[in-house]
Amino acid sequence: MSLPGTLGAMCGIVGYVGPQDARDVVLEGLRRLEYRGYDSAGIAVVADGRLSSVKKAGKLANLEKLLAEQPLPAATVGIGHTRWATHGGPTDRNAHPHLSADGSVAVIHNGIIENFASLRAECEKNGVEFRSDTDTEVATHLLAAAYAQAAEGPGRLADAMRAVCRRLEGAFTLVATVATEPDTLVAARRSSPLVVGVGDGEYFLGSDVAAFIAHTREARELGQDQVVEIDRHRGLTVTDFDGGAVEPKAYTVDWDAAAAEKGGYDRFMLKEIAEQPKAIADTLLGRLGPQGELVLDEVRLSDQELRDIDKIFVVACGTAFHAGMIAKYAIEHWTRIPVEVELASEFRYRDPVLDRSTLVVVISQSGETMDTLMALRHAREQKARVLAICNANGSTIPRESDAVFYTHAGPEVAVASTKGFLTQVVACYLVGLFLAQVRGVKYEDEVSAIVADLRRLPEAVAEVLAGMAPVRELARSLAGANTILFLGRHVGYPVALEGALKLKELAYIHAEGFAAGELKHGPIAVIDEGTPVIVIVPSPRSRESVHDKVVSNIQEVRARGARTIVIAEEGDDDVVPYADHLIRVPRTPTLLAPVVTTVPLQVLACEIADTRGLDVDQPRNLAKSVTVE
Ligand code: F6R
Repeated sequence: MSLPGTLGAMCGIVGYVGPQDARDVVLEGLRRLEYRGYDSAGIAVVADGRLSSVKKAGKLANLEKLLAEQPLPAATVGIGHTRWATHGGPTDRNAHPHLSADGSVAVIHNGIIENFASLRAECEKNGVEFRSDTDTEVATHLLAAAYAQAAEGPGRLADAMRAVCRRLEGAFTLVATVATEPDTLVAARRSSPLVVGVGDGEYFLGSDVAAFIAHTREARELGQDQVVEIDRHRGLTVTDFDGGAVEPKAYTVDWDAAAAEKGGYDRFMLKEIAEQPKAIADTLLGRLGPQGELVLDEVRLSDQELRDIDKIFVVACGTAFHAGMIAKYAIEHWTRIPVEVELASEFRYRDPVLDRSTLVVVISQSGETMDTLMALRHAREQKARVLAICNANGSTIPRESDAVFYTHAGPEVAVASTKGFLTQVVACYLVGLFLAQVRGVKYEDEVSAIVADLRRLPEAVAEVLAGMAPVRELARSLAGANTILFLGRHVGYPVALEGALKLKELAYIHAEGFAAGELKHGPIAVIDEGTPVIVIVPSPRSRESVHDKVVSNIQEVRARGARTIVIAEEGDDDVVPYADHLIRVPRTPTLLAPVVTTVPLQVLACEIADTRGLDVDQPRNLAKSVTVE
């Protein structure tokens, strides 16, 4: 048997109640959540007092084929699920929905039920036969039993759900429907994502708003440990797990449906790369207050608390971690506060020294990354202040933080982050400047001068994008490489790491990023005749002659046979003799340069992957929102 505790964790969830045909709405919602990554899918609907369900391993096309052979009846209530298996086979039987023994209750689930084993043993003792290896099935059987015992009448399914949730440990979003209630959907959440969409006489549930923005932009945010009951006629009722009434927070989604579509591009990733100038401009928009002061979105901290901060940790995963590395250079330089950058998955396990005067900046595009969420919670338990940089409004990480800065990148659908990353970097700059200003280490005019530099970035990125034809051509010649190395110094080092990560995840080519100065301490040994080495060169105006040192590093690798691909700013002629390929970027202040130098690396990775015939938007083994630790 596979590890049930980790099954069904990364999933996409859709629910619908209303006058439209639930089959179509749910299937369309699942399509919009495809980007989350999944390996099986399923749907259940309630019609004529019966629950009907179809599920299948593989992509949605497999489910659609099955639906053509075994059509479901038209219905006004439906639920749908895409499952991303972390352990154990992505099989038909493990796919969701899971049905109770008599087929009257269907449940879909995202997350991990940690006390699954003891609950399963209890169910088995009561004669329940399990038909899958999943933890979800336990919730289904418990819910069916609780429903049988709950008082008849309105709210019965919600009562049963609350009773079950009180017994569950771990993280979960659960959505349930029952054969006898054709107008009702009930859902619950703890530490896993769930949002409610409210239309005209219809309601939607989704792991994120992409599931329903084609229908409505009116949404309700569900808090931790809450149950929502949606009744087509009685409307929406939210309670805590004990039944106490809760008023859900209403918000309007400012993404439009078209933003979550490909908009004429072949791939979401190409579209998202192209959207970067706008995403940066939107992230910068409205950040200066009437006195020229910087403003964050939500700050539940006083200026005094911000002034008392004596140490900053930046905590994130993957690409967001690279944004955090860049943040360290900028925030330390501007605020003179020591900054440490940590991988969220490591942070809390090494017992970091945190207290009231520590600021933990968590960065997460999705706002749902479990490693980052757990690091955030650990930081808050230790009384540290937490500031979130996040893209997805209504997600868990900003909700649990003391202050929030939203990047306005719009929906990022491609699994590999591009515009999410650049806007995170820009947000980090703004947070650094904000802190510098609050603490009085930078005058407002100094801050405004840097903000003016930031405002030139969208145009600089657009300029880089306009000159990408040679990079695409170069990519085609690199598509057969076994290894590609990336070198950078100072803020170019995280850019090198990000370039290598993009290449690994998209093109499945072994790639590594190094601090250029470290090369001579070992890694230079791997360079062979023809090994492609991509070098991010700092501006000739950068301090401490890092530029000259990187130019020397290019010569060192070239002398050992490397094929050098050099990214350098306009007018830097020192690099010309040593570059087999030269990619020019506009002149940009040293600390802000990553925003322009990253772009050719994104295009390169995307193009190499495309040349290799790979799925750029949904690379193998990856999921967009990593909601497991
Ligand atoms: C890489 C990528 C991932 C994410 C990481 C964190 O292209 O997208 O490395 O950056 O999983 O995700 P968020 O930012 O949603 O917390």
